[in-house]
Amino acid sequence: MPDDSPPQAIEALFAENRTFPPPPEFAAKAVCNDPEIYARASKDSDEFWAGEARRLEWFAPWASVLNWDSGEKRARWFDGGTINASFNCLDRHVRDGHGSQVAYFWEGEPGDERRITYADLLAETCRLANALRELGVKRGDRVAIYMGMVPELPVALLACSRIGAIHSVVFGGFSADSLRDRIIDGACVAVITQDLGWRRGGKIALKQIVDDALAGAPSVSNVIVLKRVGDPIPWMDGRDVWYHDIVPRQPAQCDPEHMAAEDPLYILYSSGTTAKPKGIMHTTGGYLTGVSSTHKNVFDLREESDVFWCTADIGWVTGHSYVVYGPLANRATSLLFEGTPDYPDKDRFWALIEKYKVTILYTAPTAIRTFMKWGPSYVEKHDLSSLRLLGSVGEPINPEAWIWYRRYIGGDRCPVVDTWWQTETGMIMISPLPGLTDTKPGSASRPFPGVFADVVDAEGKSVPLGGGGYVVITRPWPAMLRTLWGDHDRYIKTYWSRFAKQGYYFPADGCKRDADGFYWLLGRVDDVMNVSGHRISTTEVESAFVDHPNVAEAAVVSKKDEITGEAVAAFVTLKGGGIGSPAEADELRKHVASKIGAFARPKYITFTPDLPKTRSGKIMRRLLRDVMENRPLGDTTTLADANVVKTIAEMARTAPPEE
Ligand code: PRX
Repeated sequence: MPDDSPPQAIEALFAENRTFPPPPEFAAKAVCNDPEIYARASKDSDEFWAGEARRLEWFAPWASVLNWDSGEKRARWFDGGTINASFNCLDRHVRDGHGSQVAYFWEGEPGDERRITYADLLAETCRLANALRELGVKRGDRVAIYMGMVPELPVALLACSRIGAIHSVVFGGFSADSLRDRIIDGACVAVITQDLGWRRGGKIALKQIVDDALAGAPSVSNVIVLKRVGDPIPWMDGRDVWYHDIVPRQPAQCDPEHMAAEDPLYILYSSGTTAKPKGIMHTTGGYLTGVSSTHKNVFDLREESDVFWCTADIGWVTGHSYVVYGPLANRATSLLFEGTPDYPDKDRFWALIEKYKVTILYTAPTAIRTFMKWGPSYVEKHDLSSLRLLGSVGEPINPEAWIWYRRYIGGDRCPVVDTWWQTETGMIMISPLPGLTDTKPGSASRPFPGVFADVVDAEGKSVPLGGGGYVVITRPWPAMLRTLWGDHDRYIKTYWSRFAKQGYYFPADGCKRDADGFYWLLGRVDDVMNVSGHRISTTEVESAFVDHPNVAEAAVVSKKDEITGEAVAAFVTLKGGGIGSPAEADELRKHVASKIGAFARPKYITFTPDLPKTRSGKIMRRLLRDVMENRPLGDTTTLADANVVKTIAEMARTAPPEE
C-alpha cells in the first residue's frame, strides 16, 4: 500500500454500500444507454476512438489511429489527420445553422450579463486571432493568458488555437512569481490579460501582476489588455495594447490553420513533487476527441436543450476541457460565471441555476462541503427543478457530501457522476455513464469506455477485487499528455518509471477496487497536496518558506480538512531557533501567498526549534503528518533525535489555525 495515508479512511468508505441505479426514465432517454459500449470499446479500442474522432470535422483524414512508441512513451493519435480546434468548436456549428444558439450565458460578479451566441463567439475569436497575427504571433508560438472568468477568456484560447499558437493559461490567482516562471518556461511571446478582475466585491490588479511578472521575462513582445473594471493601470507604450483598440477593427473572418493532429494545442502547468511546476503539454486531435466524447457521454449532453454549468475556472484543466473545448465541440450552451458562490450572498449559485435554468451542474467536493456547512436554507430559497444531472471532480468526494449533493441540489432525482481524472489525462478517465452505470456514493465507478485502468500493488501486480493499491492506466488514451514542455526525461521519470516493467502510466493516486470492480480513488500518494481541488506541491511551499529571510528550514504536510479536503500545515524553524509570534506566522502566510498564490496560504504554522530527521538528514514527513492528525506517532527509531518530535507535537497543539 502507498506509504502516505489517504485522505479518507478506507474502512469508513467500504462500510458505504448504498447503490443508486440509473433512474429508469433517465436511462431510457440517455445519450449512452447501450451496455455493449464497454465490451465494444475494450475489444477494439482503436475502432472505438476512431468512431469518437469521426464526430469531429477533419480537414484531412488520419492514416492511423494510434502509434505508440513504448520506449520513448510518445503517443501519436490520428497521425496524418489535420484539424483545427476552434473550427470544430465554432465554424461548423455556425455553418450548420446554429449561429444563433447561445454558446455562453455569461454573468459577471456585479450582476452584469451577456449572451454570446456561436456566431458572436466565432466573430470575436476571428477578430482576436487576426489581432494576434497583426502583432506577429505565429503558428507554434506560445501565448500566456492571465485573466478572470470573462467571455474574452474562452475567446483568447480559441483565437490561439485558430492560428496554431499554443496557449499557456495561468490561473488568475497565481502570484507574479508563479506567472513569471511559467512565461519564462514556455518562452511566451505575448500575454493576454485584463486591467483588473472582480473578486468578492474587491479588485485584483491583474495587469499590475503581469507587469511585475514581465520584469525578468524578456521573451514577451506584447501584452493585450482587456478593460474589465476601468481603474487606471500601469502602461508600457510600445508593448501594451488595449484589447478595444486592436480587436474591434479586425475582420470577423480568419482562416483556421490546418493543424496536424499531434500539433500542440496548449501547455498547462501543474504542481509536481519538486519546486518546479510541470508544463503539461496536450496536442490537438486526440485531446479534442477525448474531451468531446467524455463530455457528451458522461454528462449525457443534449445540445438542443441543456444548459451546462461547469463551475471550474478556465485557469485549471477542468475549465480547459469542460468549460471550453468539450462543450463547444459538442455545441453545448454553457453558463460562464465570473464570481464566487458567496458573493453577494451564499445563494449565488442557486440563484444562477434558477435564472438560467441550468440542467447539468459540474462542481467540486470542496464546494459541496462548503454548501453543507452553510446549510440547506440557501438552496431551498430557489427552484432548482431544471437540474437533471450532477457531476463532481477534483478530489475524493466523501459519501456524506455525495448524498447531500444528490438530496439537496439534485432533489433525489438527478444521477451524480463522480469523475476522476487529472491535468495530465486531459479528459475524464473513471466515471459512471449516467444512463448505464450504478452509482455508489464516494466511488468514481468504472473506467470510461476505451480507457484501460487497473489497481496494482507496489510491484505492479494487479490486485484482486476487494483490494487496494495504486491506480494505473495500462494503455495510451487519446487526450493523454504527450510530454512535459521542454523536459521529456522528467515526463518519463514522473509518469512511466514507477511501473516501467509493465509499461503503465502512474497517476500517483491510491485506489481501492470493490467486489463489483468499482474504483474508489483515495487521494495522492506522492508529495502533492490537494487543497480545495487545487494541486499544491509540498516542496514548492517549502521553497517559498525558506525564501523568507527569517526562515532556516521548513517542512510541509497536508492535514485533513472538513471543507477543503486537505489543508497546508507547515513546520517552520526560524533562523536563530526562536519561536515566532502569531504576527510572524501571518507574515509567513502572506509571503507564501505572494510567492505562489493565495490558494496556497498555509492554514497551520507550527514554529519548532528543530525538525524530525533521520540520521542521514531526511525530514520524516510521515511523523509530521501523524502529529497533525493526532495519531499515535509511528516508528521513531530511525530518528537522529527522538525527542524532537515530542516537542513538535506539543507545539502543534498550541498553534492556532488560520480561519
Ligand atoms: O488525486 C486526484 C484528484 O486530483 C488529482 C488531479 O488534480 P488536477 O491535475 O489538478 O486535476 C483536477 C481536475 C481533473 C488526481 O490525481 N482527483 C481528481 N478528481 C478526483 C480526484 N480524486 C478522487 N476522485 C475524483 N473524482
